[in-house]
Amino acid sequence: MQKSLQQTARGGEKRTGSGACPHMMWLTLLYGCTGGAALLYALYRWVIPAAVQYHGGLALIWHDVIVERMLDTLTQSTRPQRLLGAVQKNATRGDPCSVVKAIDHFCRHKEWAMNVGDEKGCILDSVVSEINPATVLELGTYCGYSTVRIASRLPPHAKLITLEFNPDFAVIARQVIAWAGVEEKVQLVEGASGDWIPKMKEQFGIKTFDLVFLDHWKDRYLPDTKLMEECGLLRKGSVLLADNVICPGTPEYLEYVRNSPRYESRYFKSHLEYTKVEDGLEKSVFLG
Ligand SMILES: C[S@@+](CC[C@H](N)C(=O)[O-])C[C@H]1O[C@@H](n2cnc3c(N)ncnc32)[C@H](O)[C@@H]1O
Ligand SMILES: *[C@@H]1O[C@H](CO)[C@@H](O)[C@H](O)[C@H]1NC(C)=O
Repeated sequence: MQKSLQQTARGGEKRTGSGACPHMMWLTLLYGCTGGAALLYALYRWVIPAAVQYHGGLALIWHDVIVERMLDTLTQSTRPQRLLGAVQKNATRGDPCSVVKAIDHFCRHKEWAMNVGDEKGCILDSVVSEINPATVLELGTYCGYSTVRIASRLPPHAKLITLEFNPDFAVIARQVIAWAGVEEKVQLVEGASGDWIPKMKEQFGIKTFDLVFLDHWKDRYLPDTKLMEECGLLRKGSVLLADNVICPGTPEYLEYVRNSPRYESRYFKSHLEYTKVEDGLEKSVFLG
């Protein structure tokens, strides 16, 4: 490295024919490196995020694959750990609203993450308030963002069971839920939805769910809905609220709830969390 730099320096001398030029060369190199770094940072921080925010596939590849892997390597931590750090730094203990705000701030200004997000979160809030459910099932906890949103709007003595099959996410979610002070209302269950749904009645003494929030892997929405029907977990009037029905999309599920005489279904248009890509929630009332 040093040798090649010296050679370059000598090359510089020859071209200009001046003895003072090694300094010039170092200065040029310094400016070049600083400029290059600034350019890369601008690309990473503003240019690429602005360019991909209208395209679902590109936005997900950029935020959810490239940036996440890069930051994981650079910081030797995981995105959920960094998100928890933002909560501990910026949210007030026992104040669910401040936890939601801290996560949204982190995801809009630092790092995108797959929470339902602020925009669709408002729709989720209004559905929860409208139904005023006593029993809620959430499929897919991740870091507990939507768990906190839902739990903070439940009436006294209501119960929210949330399922997460990734133990690393569950560890973080427990801390986020506890920080928000909603842990008495929440039971976080670790494991796959397909394994737990058939055991809900006997394990948790559930009769039926008033509300189910589907936000796990998209190919599980339809099989898990049919499983909940078979297991008698839905009653006349139970509401299914499904996230990401447009982006990444759940076509088979949408086709099912929109065409089955057993459901009355309605779409709430919105945007993919922290972007301008269209996405929305599908609210489907089970008619029995
Ligand atoms: C989009 S994230 C959930 C986001 C969360 N609801 C929020 O808004 O804050 C989806 C989560 O579902 C989990 N998951 C996916 N498939 C699952 C399954 N079959 N059973 C349990 N958890 C699952 C994933 O590990 C991931 O953490
Ligand atoms: C905490 O909030 C402040 C003020 O809004 C913000 O500047 C800072 O980046 C936040 N920190 C994290 C880790 O999100």
